[in-house]
Amino acid sequence: MAELQIKNLHVNAAEKQILKGVDLHVRPGEIHALMGPNGSGKSTLANAIMGHPNLEVTEGQILFDGEDITEADPDERARAGLFMAFQYPVAIPGVTVAKYLRMVINAHREGRGEAAISLKDFRKTVEAAMELTNVPREFSNRYLNDGFSGGEKKRMEILQLALLTPSLAVLDETDSGLDIDALNTVAEGVNTVASGSHMGVLIITHYQRILHMVKPQFVHILFEGRIVKEGGPELVETLEKHGYGWIRDEVAAGATA
Ligand SMILES: Nc1ncnc2c1ncn2[C@@H]1O[C@H](COP(=O)(O)OP(=O)(O)OP(=O)(O)O)[C@@H](O)[C@H]1O
Ligand SMILES: [Mg+2]
Repeated sequence: MAELQIKNLHVNAAEKQILKGVDLHVRPGEIHALMGPNGSGKSTLANAIMGHPNLEVTEGQILFDGEDITEADPDERARAGLFMAFQYPVAIPGVTVAKYLRMVINAHREGRGEAAISLKDFRKTVEAAMELTNVPREFSNRYLNDGFSGGEKKRMEILQLALLTPSLAVLDETDSGLDIDALNTVAEGVNTVASGSHMGVLIITHYQRILHMVKPQFVHILFEGRIVKEGGPELVETLEKHGYGWIRDEVAAGATA
């Protein structure tokens, strides 16, 4: 069972130090929330976990399933069972949803040494996943994310999550820009996939709304590239009430570890 271990991670983007020694441990089946003010480095951490080529790890390690993947390319990480839903999903004009999903599934199967999925099995699998995530069937023939509304893009990602059942999912602001119905669908999708497997989840969000539905056992606050506070769900309430000012004060006073 795959677990993610991040040790003393330092990451540069464009020669600037963004992450300054992050430690994080997500075990199978655990749900972790990562919160923190704008620009604190949350997306950078998510991208570093996925091996984004624009980021440079200058110190520290990322271990997945006990293996050092700090230098692995994004493909290898995906095949190892890491999944990431992006804050800003990209469109791929010219590639239909159905074609894209088949490519993704087959890439994973190939990675496991399995044969390509048959058209019949593919249809069945996708239909079931579409039903689960409330993605209308006609989406299959549309070009990926091209002209999709923000909410539709997010649903597409949860559809991929349901299809791939990764061992660890990183969800970067999967809730931003969603209406209540879409939020429920996304949360339900994540919960259904998580409860049917031992998937670990790292969910990045600014709001407690989704955290009432996808309930994290652990909450981490990232501030200026460091995790400065950790706790349980009660931390989410505190942040919602008091904002980040008190954390800023504590950091300034050197009171946080
Ligand atoms: N490729 C890059 N080049 C230069 N600076 C970058 C790059 N990527 C990230 N940064 C900087 O790193 C800092 C952290 O950005 P990041 O996107 O990780 O923040 P975040 O915590 O996800 O914020 P938000 O809550 O707004 O999504 C920001 O100051 C950002 O401008
Ligand atoms: Mg971000």
